Amino acid sequence: MSQQDSAFFRTLIIVLGALFVFFIIIIIAALYVVGDDDTASNDPRIQAKVMAQIEPVGQVNTEAGATMASAAPAGGAVDGAGTYQSACFACHGTGAAGAPKVGDKAAWADRIKQGNDTLYEHAIKGFQGKAGFMPAKGGNAGLSDAAVKAAVDHMVSNSQ
Ligand code: HEC
Repeated sequence: MSQQDSAFFRTLIIVLGALFVFFIIIIIAALYVVGDDDTASNDPRIQAKVMAQIEPVGQVNTEAGATMASAAPAGGAVDGAGTYQSACFACHGTGAAGAPKVGDKAAWADRIKQGNDTLYEHAIKGFQGKAGFMPAKGGNAGLSDAAVKAAVDHMVSNSQ
């Protein structure tokens, strides 16, 4: 082995040794941070605190009528304009898919002549017409009938 080679190997051993020591130090540090016993994480007070900190912001309410309650605040009043904006505007605000645009009086005149009951029924149950396909409740099955009717009222009153 030349002198250069042995110098190289010496350096290599020193570097490997340093890395090994570093490795051991990291493991000891990791054990120190985590703690070698589980008593802390088994403590119900600590668990409760952790659960409170990682609790989801909202919770799904599966109670019957919960969504209707939120769509129909105090006194059963439904927000037609709000329902329209969230569930109907995508088509009826733009005319997408052949939907009659709100405010387009000509497009609505003959529809309005059918009477509210027909319009409600078509909006709630869905409707295939000459212009296109109107999905039941605008494709939003979670809407209450009352909310859809209110949205129809909102659309009609802004289109005549
Ligand atoms: C995916 C697009 C789309 C969405 C979303 C949508 N509609 Fe429609 N709607 C249509 C189309 C297309 C027509 C026209 C059907 C035809 O006459 O050919 C229509 C027609 C209607 C009509 C007229 C029915 C008739 O008898 O002339 C009413 C009322 C109506 N929609 C209400 C609503 C309400 C209320 C919502 C929201 C809850 C809604 N639509 C959401 C596409 C949509």
